[in-house]
Amino acid sequence: MNENIATEATELDNLMLIIKSFLEHMEYTLGKDKYTATKYDAFNALAYAVRDKLVERWLDTQQAYYNSDNKRIYYLSMEFLMGRALGNSLINLGILDDFREAMTSLGYDFEELFEEEQDAGLGNGGLGRLAACFLDSMATMSIPAYGYGIRYEYGIFRQKIVDGAQMELPDNWLRYRNPWELDRQEHLHPVKFYGRVITTVNKQGNVVKEWVDTEDVMAMAYDTPIPGYQNNTVNTMRLWSAKSSRDFDLKFFNEGNYIRAVEKKMQTETISKVLYPADNVIEGKELRFKQEYFLASATIHDVLYRFKKKHTDLKLLPEKVAIQLNDTHPALAIPELMRVLLDLENMEWDDAWKVTKKTFAYTNHTILPEALEQWPVWFFEQILPRHLQIVFDINTRFMEEVKERFPGDSDRLSRMSIVEEHWERKIRMAHLAIVGSHSVNGVAALHTEIIKNQLFRDFYEMYPERFNNKTNGITQRRWLKMANPPLADLISEYIGTGWTTDLYELEKLRAATKDPEFVPRWQAVKRANKERLAAYILKHNCIEVNVDSMFDCQVKRIHEYKRQLLNVLHVITMYNRIKENPAGEFVPRTFIFGGKAAPAYFTAKLIIRLINAVGSVVNNDPDVGDRMKVVFLANYSVSLAEDIFPASDLSEQISTAGTEASGTGNMKFALNGALTIGTLDGANIEIMEEVGKENIFIFGLTAAEVNNLRKKGYNPRDYYNRQPELKKTLDMIAGGFFTPNAPDLFRPIVDILLNQGDYYMLLADYASYVACQEEVSKVYLDQDEWARRAILNTAGMGKFSSDRTIAEYAREIWGISPMNITPGAGSRQPGETF
Ligand code: IMP
Repeated sequence: MNENIATEATELDNLMLIIKSFLEHMEYTLGKDKYTATKYDAFNALAYAVRDKLVERWLDTQQAYYNSDNKRIYYLSMEFLMGRALGNSLINLGILDDFREAMTSLGYDFEELFEEEQDAGLGNGGLGRLAACFLDSMATMSIPAYGYGIRYEYGIFRQKIVDGAQMELPDNWLRYRNPWELDRQEHLHPVKFYGRVITTVNKQGNVVKEWVDTEDVMAMAYDTPIPGYQNNTVNTMRLWSAKSSRDFDLKFFNEGNYIRAVEKKMQTETISKVLYPADNVIEGKELRFKQEYFLASATIHDVLYRFKKKHTDLKLLPEKVAIQLNDTHPALAIPELMRVLLDLENMEWDDAWKVTKKTFAYTNHTILPEALEQWPVWFFEQILPRHLQIVFDINTRFMEEVKERFPGDSDRLSRMSIVEEHWERKIRMAHLAIVGSHSVNGVAALHTEIIKNQLFRDFYEMYPERFNNKTNGITQRRWLKMANPPLADLISEYIGTGWTTDLYELEKLRAATKDPEFVPRWQAVKRANKERLAAYILKHNCIEVNVDSMFDCQVKRIHEYKRQLLNVLHVITMYNRIKENPAGEFVPRTFIFGGKAAPAYFTAKLIIRLINAVGSVVNNDPDVGDRMKVVFLANYSVSLAEDIFPASDLSEQISTAGTEASGTGNMKFALNGALTIGTLDGANIEIMEEVGKENIFIFGLTAAEVNNLRKKGYNPRDYYNRQPELKKTLDMIAGGFFTPNAPDLFRPIVDILLNQGDYYMLLADYASYVACQEEVSKVYLDQDEWARRAILNTAGMGKFSSDRTIAEYAREIWGISPMNITPGAGSRQPGETF
């Protein structure tokens, strides 16, 4: 009895402390009172109260890292697609219910406050979200890890659909405030650009290179705390912001042109202004190159600063530091570390090179040629003259090594060179990254095989031990526990909560397929989630969808290789079938699309218009009724994804085999109990292995068949001529059926398929896709069978936790073991500042 009273008293104290903290932030941090506080203020005061909790653990964690002197991992990425932080922080800190109670007692609608938070959208798609999932896993596993990136003032644009077409609006996410970050004015590093290199000989008779007359930009650090899941660890994501240096351009200043001098300074701050919005394609712009070096240089400086706090011998760097390059985007860190070691630390070349190779590891994310970075030598030389010399020196030595290994093979030399010599001379960043790292990994088993046997075959022959696979993963804390509380709770009730940190625990759900009480509850959860999404669709698209229809979803960047267009061909085919047989039996479907197109990607933008044009015909045709609706959800983002996955029945993963490196959306869908229709591409193959062939819908050519057909000669017109339904569908698109007022609008799309070779082989896969969709509909008719397969999909997702991926990176690439952070693990006493 007394114990109960004591517990209740503690709970009350706790509640009062939360309320006090919230009210103090409202008053002292924000300067607001009951007359002026908006809902947005309430979100901010709440976020600050949560941040206080993070900061306590953050200081402990960081001190513990210093005290233990463990090896640290630095994850370098030009993108971190974090989404919102409030819900995730509350869940990971284990204080969600306490804060809900406190805010509710103050009269706030807790869930409504979450909606006030802007997404941190500092990424385009898979690569950036992977980085975010990795940060969550590394903190959850107490790995001493740091994410390093750029604090773009404008993240990925906000997408609006106007008259069926994509419009881009700036994402000015920092306009008001970002309550999560801490600015670190003491971490202000100069980053140099341009200038020239002078060669001198020092007193010891050694040749010394000096990079002089540079234009400097300051990189200032902003830290975001990254909490682990209920383990007291809080790691750091450090993002760099460009600030002008203090000294003025003397030329303008002496001319008395003060304003011009200030303007010039301000221009340097554009480096961190905006994220480049193209996914899986490079733009080759000078500003992007500068952004990449800005990240590389500031980060290397920071890495060495932290290392030097405890050590003096830089040869020990690889024992204390691992640097993972998220694609080649941050690969200038390789020549930057070499420059620092050679020119500033006076290390010998061989030692510096050994240290560099042992420190770096490179993750490849794509085999699409248009996404492989190559920088023209002429502007590399202008912007980073010393680095170009170093890259050339690396290449000369590397070419000698290749010659020795493969004498007389000059073709091989030119294929492998870091410098592309044909046409315009260019630096091949992937070659630099492979040569300068001890590990090169792909992100799914098939992708890694393609890297080894096709894309980087020569390198694999030379350094087989460097190549390895790390199949991507996702964090179940965000993508199940936070995004889908009803399903998470149902699962926990049945198998316990162990899955939150060991996703293989989901295996235990297999037994639930035979539990006559569990299955209906599973179905009820899915239905409730679908109702919520239906309400969203009604509000934002003014379309009333049938909640009993199959929610057939394809949400991802719009890209030809991902084949949203193939999905549209199926939509039109189904429409035609209904029109031909209006009284027929059809399994109702709601086709849900979402995704952004790069602003300069003409075809991708046209595909968005086509989806919307088809939608406006289908959705308004009385013959169709509620058997079919086509919905394009604008502004696909992390937050919108969190609403879509829980409500999905069918997950469309239909890229041409051999083109999607891994995919992670496929994992998020299946984790939330959607069945997949997909090609044997990327991680789909591994999903099939885990959930069983009979619980996934596979269609289309394999990667090997795609290659063979290309070699043999692929003629899309053969398929068009032989398949009347396909012909009709394409003729409708080309003939203006969906846009009578602009009959030629979609002709370029059909041109790509019929007259430009259909590179992604939509027509070759059409028949098999449509047949597979018929099978999908058949299974959906049996709702219990569908639920059974859905449960087995969730049950099979153990492998796809990013915790498993990170454990593999840590063990096999970084050589880092997890630490356990307990409160007070540092020397810090709670509440102690100095
Ligand atoms: P940073 O490594 O400079 O980013 O520092 C991050 C945090 O690590 C600081 O706020 C301290 O809590 C902790 N820290 C920094 N230097 C030391 C040290 O020398 N010993 C113990 N903890 C440190």
